[in-house]
Amino acid sequence: MSSRTIITRQQSGHSVGQRGKQGPIITIDGPAGVGKSTIAKQLASRLGYRYLDTGALYRAVAWKVRASEVDPADHRTVAKLLPETCITLEQSRDGVRVLVDGQDVTGEIRTPEISESASVVSAIPAVRQWLLPIQRQAGASGGVVAEGRDLGTHVFPEADMKFFLEADVDVRAARRRDQLRAAGHVESLAQTEERIKARDLRDQARAVAPLAPAADARLINTSALGVDAIVEQMIAVIATKL
Ligand code: DC
Repeated sequence: MSSRTIITRQQSGHSVGQRGKQGPIITIDGPAGVGKSTIAKQLASRLGYRYLDTGALYRAVAWKVRASEVDPADHRTVAKLLPETCITLEQSRDGVRVLVDGQDVTGEIRTPEISESASVVSAIPAVRQWLLPIQRQAGASGGVVAEGRDLGTHVFPEADMKFFLEADVDVRAARRRDQLRAAGHVESLAQTEERIKARDLRDQARAVAPLAPAADARLINTSALGVDAIVEQMIAVIATKL
């Protein structure tokens, strides 16, 4: 990603394939709290690749929907907001910053409420359709580790290497609760686990591009493995394949 990637509907309107690709595309998909972000960031840094967090784009849409006081489940009104929305991913020293219509929402999109709304808006076909070329454009030049739910199956079906991470729900809930605590959001483990289960169900059951491993994805269970061990395992697999 360039230092400032401005994403608008106009720029995303043309189709982007893998022409001009300068490096591999590696996808990491999996459910909430499985460790995708930490692992994807570390893998990208080890390989010297860019990191593309596609969940941040759905969260940015959810932020706009809530800021506009629109019901995230109202397909028609949410769809109408999209052409007037500008999402910017900006590379900074502390990582990627997310701007919606020029406003920095990086911290605000990590709340439990936005997680919930992002999952709801992500089931709206118009939202997925609007974000598809944006994601493809962001990854088209290659040399990227992209993480999300449908990257191996829909966004980058031709990716050079695909991983799908899994972990037991109680392990994922504990990890997510710790992340939330670190960001100042306190909720009980039972609450976090309920939210995660509800989100998993919604993400797996939606009609368009549901959460699922690609047929050619390498499955890794992260329940009992540390981040370093998983990244090493991925690098070893990538070395044999690329
Ligand atoms: O990875 P995350 O928790 O930041 O994602 C937030 C929501 O966005 C998630 O519940 C489902 C949706 N999402 C998606 O549908 N497809 C993606 N590629 C990434 C995220």
